[in-house]
Amino acid sequence: MIAALMAAGCGDNLPAKPDASHLLPDGGRSPVARGRYIMNTLGACTFCHTPLNPDGSRDTTRLFAGVDCFLDIDPTAGAGCVSTRNLTNHVTGLKNATDQQIKNAFTKGMRTDGKILAPLMPYYIFHNMTDADVDAVVAYLRTVPGVDHTVQPNEPPWSLINDGVPTVCNMLGTAGAVPCVADAIDPATIPMPSPGFTEMASALRGRYLSSMVGLCIDCHTPELPHAGPIPPFFPRPIDMSKAYTGGRIFAKQDLGLIDPLYPATITTRNLTSHATGLQGFTLTDIKAAIALGKDRDGKAVCAATHGSLISPYAALDDADLEDIANYIASLPPVDHDTAPNCQGPVVP
Ligand code: HEC
Ligand code: HEC
Repeated sequence: MIAALMAAGCGDNLPAKPDASHLLPDGGRSPVARGRYIMNTLGACTFCHTPLNPDGSRDTTRLFAGVDCFLDIDPTAGAGCVSTRNLTNHVTGLKNATDQQIKNAFTKGMRTDGKILAPLMPYYIFHNMTDADVDAVVAYLRTVPGVDHTVQPNEPPWSLINDGVPTVCNMLGTAGAVPCVADAIDPATIPMPSPGFTEMASALRGRYLSSMVGLCIDCHTPELPHAGPIPPFFPRPIDMSKAYTGGRIFAKQDLGLIDPLYPATITTRNLTSHATGLQGFTLTDIKAAIALGKDRDGKAVCAATHGSLISPYAALDDADLEDIANYIASLPPVDHDTAPNCQGPVVP
């Protein structure tokens, strides 16, 4: 029974609605409500910053309290653990941080203790948020109940980034190395909808929601090419010349999947309207994949962000889901054949 519950929480991607009782029904009108929606739903902050219960559901009593060893790239080597930070109103969280320090952290990659944030934290996406949305996130964070939790320190290579030691992500100027800078994504390089797309206004709103607050572009774009011996799954900025064409490779546990039926690694899919992408998908198909985690064959999408007990996207506003789906449908076709589509269990 426990095993079945865990599978439902972490592995099976059943399209259960998440517990949304901590979300007040005020429809995103005040800055606090907008920030709450960004952090719990659209920006998926909670996916990384809130610990899970043993049954695989999100522990809403410890909302945004940080997760120890959130990701471990090498569990055998005593290295590779990175923790997400405590963002709550407690001294072990962000209680004593100024508004500006918090903004510098999530939009510029400067940690509130003066260290450099590891780019697993997608600050290079949030860098392009509007000022109003940035302010809304801070306004909401000030209302999050404090939880006493000092997160476990990061291990190498993450701690090397934190301390500013040159790593593949911040070695500027070395041939082939990749700078890991906050403004890695020039908004002008984010694809525009195909000219003449019928729902242009909606698609343009969706472009902002999917690429500057939401993390769709981050997971569905390949990383920049490897430059030398880099540990597998070590995040680097994304290759904007291939935006939304898929091909980013994840270890399954980093997508919230533990069930042995899933392959060890999962490659994201080309979302453009090419035959190697989503050509032939209706708006309804695209929405079902995002918010219910159900693909066109009725199988679970292989990512706990889509479907599952902890899917933030299950609670997307209808209007935002429509805008995001229109933007995806509007993406100009790009030929990029990624790995064969991963298919989870049949979704009832
Ligand atoms: C993919 C996982 C992930 C997502 C999504 C994510 N974060 Fe983070 N965040 C991290 C990690 C990991 C760290 C710590 C990295 C480090 O210590 O180098 C972090 C650190 C932070 C910090 C720094 C806190 C401090 O003590 O300086 C802030 C602030 C923050 N995140 C806010 C946010 C907000 C706001 C969102 C959503 C808009 C968000 N995060 C989404 C993984 C994530
Ligand atoms: C944490 C990474 C992650 C994020 C964030 C993410 N996706 Fe995905 N997405 C995936 C993975 C992994 C798959 C499954 C790939 C497979 O099954 O081969 C997927 C599948 C999909 C599919 C289904 C394609 C199919 O095979 O039917 C669509 C559509 C999609 N994502 C759209 C989005 C949109 C829109 C967003 C933002 C609201 C988004 N994704 C955010 C990782 C992510």
